[in-house]
Amino acid sequence: MKKILAFAGSTSSTSINKQLATFAAENLKNTYFDVIDLRDFSMPVYSSDEEQNGFPENAIKFNALLNNYDGFILSLAEHNGSYTAAFKNIFDWSSRLEVNVFREKALLLMATSPGAMGGRFVLAAAEQRFPRQGAKTITTFSLPSFYDNFKEGKIVNDDLLSTLKTKVVEFENNVNQ
Ligand SMILES: Cc1cc2nc3c(=O)[nH]c(=O)nc-3n(C[C@H](O)[C@H](O)[C@H](O)COP(=O)(O)O)c2cc1C
Repeated sequence: MKKILAFAGSTSSTSINKQLATFAAENLKNTYFDVIDLRDFSMPVYSSDEEQNGFPENAIKFNALLNNYDGFILSLAEHNGSYTAAFKNIFDWSSRLEVNVFREKALLLMATSPGAMGGRFVLAAAEQRFPRQGAKTITTFSLPSFYDNFKEGKIVNDDLLSTLKTKVVEFENNVNQ
C-alpha cells in the first residue's frame, strides 16, 4: 500500500494547517498515512557554525523519515507573507542533508489562514521553489477564512470541500509506490 506523510509548516499546538493536512489525508481512499507534528522536531536555528558542530538529531530524524513515504501532504502556515521560521529552519537543515528534500515524490501543497487570502503568498513561494528541491507538486489548494470554512475537523463550505476532494483524488492517483 502507498504511504503518505502529512504535516503542517507550523509549530503551533493548535495549528490550523495541521488540521487541514489531517483532513486532506483522511480523504485518501487507498493510501496509508501518518500525520507528524513539527513540534516533535525542534532544533537550533540553522547557521554554518551550527552545522560545523554537527547535524541536530531531529534534523537527521526528519530527513530520514522523508525516505519512508511515497508522497507528502503539506499545509504551510503563513507568517508575514512567507514560511514560518520553524518550517524554514527544518527545511534549511534538511536541504543540507539532502538537497532533493522532497525526493522527486508527489506533493499535495496547501495553505490556510484565518484571512481571506488563505496563505496564498506562502503557497506561491513554495510552489515556485519546491520543484527545485525535488517536489513533484501534483496540485495546490488554499483554504481561505479558516474559521468560517472549517469546523469540527472538516471543511464545511460545499464548494471548497468538493474542490479539495477532487484535488486529493488527483494527488492520490499520481503517487507512485
Ligand atoms: C507573526 C505572524 C505573522 C502572520 N502573518 C500572516 C500573513 O502574512 N498572512 C496570513 O494570512 N496570516 C498571517 N498570520 C496569521 C496566521 O495565518 C495564523 O496565526 C495561523 O493560525 C497560522 O497557521 P497555523 O495555525 O497552522 O500555525 C500571522 C501570524 C503571526 C503570528
